[in-house]
Amino acid sequence: ANERTLSIIKPDAVAKNAIGEIIARFEKAGLKVVAAKMIRLSEENAGGFYAEHKERPFFNDLVGFMTSGPIVVQVLEGEDAIAKNRDLMGATNPKEAEAGTIRADFAETIDANAVHGSDSVESAEREIAYFFDNDEICPR
Ligand code: CMP
Repeated sequence: ANERTLSIIKPDAVAKNAIGEIIARFEKAGLKVVAAKMIRLSEENAGGFYAEHKERPFFNDLVGFMTSGPIVVQVLEGEDAIAKNRDLMGATNPKEAEAGTIRADFAETIDANAVHGSDSVESAEREIAYFFDNDEICPR
C-alpha cells in the first residue's frame, strides 16, 4: 500500500555530516520526502515522542541523546514506506544490522544509532502528527 512514515536523522548522523547520504538512500529506494525540517528537541518534546519507552531503563539516556544536537525529521511516502524504511535502516543495534544498511554504515551504538523510523501504520500516524502540521506535508 502507499504509506507515509516518519524518519528521524539523529544527532550522531547530523554531527557526521551524513544527512545527504542518508536521504539519498531513501530516494534511491523509491521513497519520496514529502516534508522535512531540522529541529533541536527539548527534553519535554523528546520525552513525549518516546513516551512508550518511559519505563525502560534506557529512557533517560535516550532523551539525553536525542536532545544533544539538532535532528532532521522527515515524512517519507511510497509503496510500503514503513517496511522499506525499516529495511534500509537495519537492526536497532548497529552491531546486529545487516551490511549495507544505514545503521551498519553510520552508527556505532544502540543509543547513537543514526536513524529512527516508525514501526507500524498507527505509530507512523502518531509520529508524523507529533512533528508536522498537515499544511507542512507536501504530497507530490
Ligand atoms: P529508536 O528506533 O529511535 O527507538 C527507541 C530508541 O531507544 C532506539 O531507537 C535506540 O536508539 C534506543 N535504545 C537504547 N537501548 C535500547 C534497547 N535496549 N532496546 C531498544 N532501543 C534501545
